[in-house]
Amino acid sequence: MIQTEQHGAVRVIVIGNPPVNALGAAVRQGLAEAIAKAEADDATRAIVLRGAGRLFSGGADIREFDQPSIEPFLPELLDVIEAGATPVVAALHGTAFGGGLELAMACHYRVAAPSARLGLPEVRIGLLPGAGGTQRLPRLAGIEASLQMILSGDPVTARQAATSGLVDRVIEEARLTEDAVTFALEVAVPGGPRRTAGLAPTLEEGAFERAAERSRRQAGLDAPVACLEAIRGAVELPFREGIARERALFERLAKGRQSQALRHVFFAERACGKVDDLPQDIRTLPIARVGIVGAGTMGGGIAMNFLSAGLPVTLVEREQAAIDRGVAIIRRNYERTARRGRLTQEQVEAAMALLSPSLAFEDLAACDLVIEAVFETLAIKQEVFRRLDGIVREGAILATNTSYLDVDAIAAVTRRPSHVLGLHFFSPANVMRLLEVVRGAATAPEVLATAMATAKRIGKVAVVARVCHGFIGNRMLEPRQRQAERLVLEGARPQDVDRVLRDFGMPMGPFQMADLAGLDLGWDEASSSGGTLREMLCERGRRGQKNGRGYYDYDDERNRTASGEVEALIRDFAVRSGITQRAIPDDEIRERLLYPMVDEGARILAEGIAQRASDIDVVWVNGYGWPAATGGPMFWADGIGLATVVAGLRRHGGDTAVSNALAERAASGRNLVS
Ligand code: NAI
Repeated sequence: MIQTEQHGAVRVIVIGNPPVNALGAAVRQGLAEAIAKAEADDATRAIVLRGAGRLFSGGADIREFDQPSIEPFLPELLDVIEAGATPVVAALHGTAFGGGLELAMACHYRVAAPSARLGLPEVRIGLLPGAGGTQRLPRLAGIEASLQMILSGDPVTARQAATSGLVDRVIEEARLTEDAVTFALEVAVPGGPRRTAGLAPTLEEGAFERAAERSRRQAGLDAPVACLEAIRGAVELPFREGIARERALFERLAKGRQSQALRHVFFAERACGKVDDLPQDIRTLPIARVGIVGAGTMGGGIAMNFLSAGLPVTLVEREQAAIDRGVAIIRRNYERTARRGRLTQEQVEAAMALLSPSLAFEDLAACDLVIEAVFETLAIKQEVFRRLDGIVREGAILATNTSYLDVDAIAAVTRRPSHVLGLHFFSPANVMRLLEVVRGAATAPEVLATAMATAKRIGKVAVVARVCHGFIGNRMLEPRQRQAERLVLEGARPQDVDRVLRDFGMPMGPFQMADLAGLDLGWDEASSSGGTLREMLCERGRRGQKNGRGYYDYDDERNRTASGEVEALIRDFAVRSGITQRAIPDDEIRERLLYPMVDEGARILAEGIAQRASDIDVVWVNGYGWPAATGGPMFWADGIGLATVVAGLRRHGGDTAVSNALAERAASGRNLVS
């Protein structure tokens, strides 16, 4: 795992622990030995430390986290390296993240190739850099840059790192070892190496205040608060005491439920890409050209995913006006990204050049994958699939972006049901990371594997679902929407229901969401019976944000205010339905909205619609903004205790409110997430 090479008076130590050179126990032991040997060798005047393969190091091995620790511990190893008399130069390329960057900072000097990304992403898993990172980074880069990096978890480039002082010199990647060796000889001068711990951090005026302002979005999270406190220690305390504070804060975070939840999500997002019953050596089909039918809200966003990944897209619509509008929106989105500095104008033009708008289905003939995103009506989708089946080359994959419909019934109208599946993107499709991959009864293994590989290519987190109404995410949304409507009939106000969910950490509540999507989604004026609150509001012309009136009233800027008219309409509706209204406490609102989702999740799991409970959590965290710091609905329910959830469901809804799936799990003392 640790290789050494001698370059004249410089010992080069190479960390090789694929895939990311994680600093597991064996690497730490190897490093400690290699450093000690180099120190003891009189012919060695300096040491260069680098990573093998494409990167320096991705950091600690977080799988070791919940296991007994093995010596040497990373913080102590770093202290030994720093205290050494022989200068150590870290040569960075690719990635230096987390413990990897902390290792580099404990070295006496750092050089980096332009490819290098340096970051301390611990805050994202509810932690802080616990191997001296909060104390050494401020001493190298100053407080302002440290707060920025540690609180956001975002990496910086080699050039940015050189500007802040984190990196001493930017060198060429092709000459990484040679240039690092040259640099090492330059700094190997009498008087001993420069030690990071001995430097004084620069405190820019107002840096803490600005950071506090920026991290307001992270309200309710423990880790950013602890990060701030640790970094403050770099200013207030001598190095050793700062390290002690960092350690104490780290240990508190690591034991906390938030970090456990965020680590659960981290692993869940890696586990979901694995399809349990696919053969290991399965071959995927080549996807070089993609077709999309429908250039509406979803079709345009879906197209952008492929264009951004460099894949040519043929986008087909029914009429010129629709295709023009679709293409214009795609361009506008790219231009906006360019204005924010996240794309160059050349990249925008390159993406647009890959787009072929068309009004002819025949132009889809040579595509390897065609995704349908037309109206949500089974008959319309079946008609589109019949046509596609006759035009698109044999062996190509046909996918539907349906939100709820039966993928098998769509596949059945084709002669290639083995090559049909659901690819359920979330809105806005160019932004949201989640993709539900819906495998039909007949979907071939290589087609499923190809969909998963394609999802990865376009940067999505893909979760496999089997066919049912609404798949994983939307199916769990339904009991929540039903409860929300019941709650307001029983006396809660829409704004109270929404507030309770926002307080829980969701980006919006059910009524805000309904207003955004449009209350008339799936509503038909001719057949409306006004039998539900929603239908009644539609009949009153309350269609949602789009016409300024839904559960809320909206002004021209779409700012919402509670509606007195709606409250009165709800009261009348309750009276007509024989429901007595009462004040409903927040706890009850929360339980009645969220527990039925847990129950639905348990059913989804028992029916095999989802492969594993953690997949359900990935869907809710990435597709609906469920607060990651609670781990997703399944992990959250385990934390509360399934017996408590079951008791709550019974209290609010009687025995029929609990599925056998959940009741049995609770009775047997098993969790949802194993
Ligand atoms: P939309 O109404 O914005 O776009 C549909 C487009 O399809 C329209 O531009 C229409 O002209 C075109 N179209 C209809 N029939 C066509 C045909 N035969 N040939 C070619 N083009 C045709 O609808 P949206 O919101 O984009 O939804 C599309 C699909 O995506 C639906 O199945 C929907 O359930 C699903 N979906 C929607 C989400 C959303 O948030 N809007 C989220 C996830 C899925």
